[in-house]
Amino acid sequence: MHSFAGNRVVGHTGAPFPIFQAPIGLISRGDLVGAVSGAGGVGLMETMFLPIPDMQAQFDLVRARSNHPFGLHFLVGFLSSQPEREKAVLDWALDGKTKFITTGYGDPARYIRRIKDAGMTTYHMTDTLEEALRAEDAGVDGVVLGGAEKGGGNGRDHLHTFALLQKARTRIGVPIVAAGGIADGHGMAAAFALGAEGVMMGTRFIASQECPWHDNYKQAIVEAEQVIGITSVSGFNSMRAVRNEFSEGVERGELGDKTKPYAGDARAMFYEGRTDVAIVGCGETAVLIDEIKPAAEIVTDTVREFWGEIDRLANLRAPVSA
Ligand SMILES: Cc1cc2nc3c(=O)[nH]c(=O)nc-3n(C[C@H](O)[C@H](O)[C@H](O)COP(=O)(O)O)c2cc1C
Repeated sequence: MHSFAGNRVVGHTGAPFPIFQAPIGLISRGDLVGAVSGAGGVGLMETMFLPIPDMQAQFDLVRARSNHPFGLHFLVGFLSSQPEREKAVLDWALDGKTKFITTGYGDPARYIRRIKDAGMTTYHMTDTLEEALRAEDAGVDGVVLGGAEKGGGNGRDHLHTFALLQKARTRIGVPIVAAGGIADGHGMAAAFALGAEGVMMGTRFIASQECPWHDNYKQAIVEAEQVIGITSVSGFNSMRAVRNEFSEGVERGELGDKTKPYAGDARAMFYEGRTDVAIVGCGETAVLIDEIKPAAEIVTDTVREFWGEIDRLANLRAPVSA
């Protein structure tokens, strides 16, 4: 049996494993975060939409499911555009709720003083080395770097995980958590070889039993043979989705509204399973995922596969013959 003792991400988060579940809007709530955290991963709860009392109820659900640490996430660009909500969320979250905060996609300097004054550890999520360097200068304790194969929005010139991590490891001193292209312990071992000390998975946890979206969405990921890049999505350059008739029609400009992230009736897809009326957003890892699993199993399988992969690589060293 191996341990992650000495891993800086584990030191910062207090969770046994340096495996983050992505703080995806609408899904990263009590059930999922509690299951990930309970299994020793770093569950991250999103703070975008719920009224504060409902958010507190989700928080209590996590606590009921897990004695391990977990974190709260501030999507900076989103919160800063709604000053009243921003204040309410910060006042709620920084009142001794957790020890770990992630910020994402925006300037973490906006919150860093308050987070630090509250005695918390914070990582900033970004897809560019430049923003990661600015975040490090601002005083964050770590960064989550997303390569262009990841789910969610991506920029036109963004680097993919392989190049991004290798470049970042030469420039960034704080621990790096890799996102994008990782769905298991094999991807995790690859990310560690390139300089990461932790991983974040989004698409993998969407296809979990605790994700509140409809099973048809998860099944579309499980069955995905190909992903498609929908270009010109508002606010991003592109966004990946499962390749199907609807997403192909959107990309051709014949279905939905290409400028909207879900280009159709997203609610009917999320909650009624109508994958024929909106794009099934995902990362490239959709092609690697072949089963909807309990989130705890995703964490424990990833850890087991990771150490198996490290052992396999170590065994490549043939003894030097005399
Ligand atoms: C369908 C979908 C929606 C996402 N929405 C958000 C979001 O609301 N906020 C956010 O910070 N990241 C969002 N992301 C990005 C994730 O935080 C994470 O960076 C990404 O999922 C990692 O790549 P992977 O999906 O290949 O594992 C989303 C990802 C997906 C697949």
